[in-house]
Amino acid sequence: MQPLPGFRDFLPADCAVRNYIFARWREVARRYGFVEWDGPILEATELYTKKSGPEIIQQLFHFVDKGERDIALRPELTPTLARVVAAHEREFRKPLKWFSIGQFFRYEKPQRGRSREHFQLNCDIVGETALAADADLIALAIDILRGFGFTEKDVVLRISDRQFWTDFLESEKVPESQWQEILQTIDKSEREPREKTAAKLGDLADPVFGLLKEGGRSENLEMLADELRHRGLDRFVEVDIGIVRGLAYYTGIVFEAFDRAGKFRAIAGGGRYDNLIGQLSDGAVQLPALGFAMGDVVLGELINDTPGARASMQKAVASQDKIDLYVVIAKEERRADALAQIQQFRDCGYRIDYPISPAKVGKQFQTAEELGATIALLYGDEWPQVKVKNLATREEKLVPADRLLAEIGDTFPTSS
Ligand code: HAM
Repeated sequence: MQPLPGFRDFLPADCAVRNYIFARWREVARRYGFVEWDGPILEATELYTKKSGPEIIQQLFHFVDKGERDIALRPELTPTLARVVAAHEREFRKPLKWFSIGQFFRYEKPQRGRSREHFQLNCDIVGETALAADADLIALAIDILRGFGFTEKDVVLRISDRQFWTDFLESEKVPESQWQEILQTIDKSEREPREKTAAKLGDLADPVFGLLKEGGRSENLEMLADELRHRGLDRFVEVDIGIVRGLAYYTGIVFEAFDRAGKFRAIAGGGRYDNLIGQLSDGAVQLPALGFAMGDVVLGELINDTPGARASMQKAVASQDKIDLYVVIAKEERRADALAQIQQFRDCGYRIDYPISPAKVGKQFQTAEELGATIALLYGDEWPQVKVKNLATREEKLVPADRLLAEIGDTFPTSS
């Protein structure tokens, strides 16, 4: 049997890569003072139908449970965040700076860079209207990408301002009920044939194409670019008014991260959503917010495609599953003594393995090498001494069993 379309099996090597990605995400988010949180994988379908917009709803995995509740696997974290913040708002000092790493599910056509499950890092700031927060969030997104070894030659953050488009729609007297559909058409225009976009936009086609060609400006975008220049990160950003974002709730600055060569889909996306918490709580709690999410699928593809980033990953991953010590039981009579010492080494944090059933000594050494052990400890005729063999240098020495732990501790730190 195969996994379902768009779902992945994570073999040990894939898990090692996943752990590497998660570790970098956590490390950089914490550097910016973000704290970790999480929500449930299942939510009431209504949480998404209420505000995320038609794109996400078409992509929901949803069903009726045994209690007749219409529920959905989470396609994104933002509505959950809005729900949780509205419920616990008084318990926390503002602004909240929260990050989360979790799995999300979208019923989309599986293709390169798009699967039916993926992991995301979400970073959100709640309770801050200042544009400096948008700048800090964008700087965080850039620093995460730098953390994987990408430079400004590899990646770019394209930033835009939704306000620019809503001002335009207002000036064109377009009723608000049509905004979301038009914004989504503009968002997709780069990936769709011009005629298709023109047909969908009708009378608005000419002015929209004109604005996209000219490139828009906004005071906020200029202030943002300045803030990033002060940090020396402006090389990573470009203003691109064509970025609108498919999700309905964005209200201000929006951005997406891409590979410079334009080979892959977006690595990350986000922006300001000042009304969502108010709308989902039916006005009970009004808090401005902004955030972004970075997915593991496109990021993984880009790491593999970028030599510097790939080398950093391979280096980090190579040592992850290696053991430190392998116990060779040369005489079965020594098994009980060996087990007693294995327990002590494990208590001290060493990664240590041994043959579960009797095996030839040569075979045991082979296993030690295959598992990546640095040292083999041989329990045999030498007892109460143990033969310590460095598998890299082939050096051997005899160490009294009661001094073994101290001796190894002096020369070989644990991997964990
Ligand atoms: P999003 O643009 O829908 O934003 O997703 C963010 C990132 O998740 C994308 O750039 C992409 O890398 C990855 N991603 C999304 N869908 C898939 C998929 N089907 N397969 C693989 N990767 C995928 C959001 O989800 C917003 N909630 C982000 C946000 C947080 N806005 C504010 N706070």
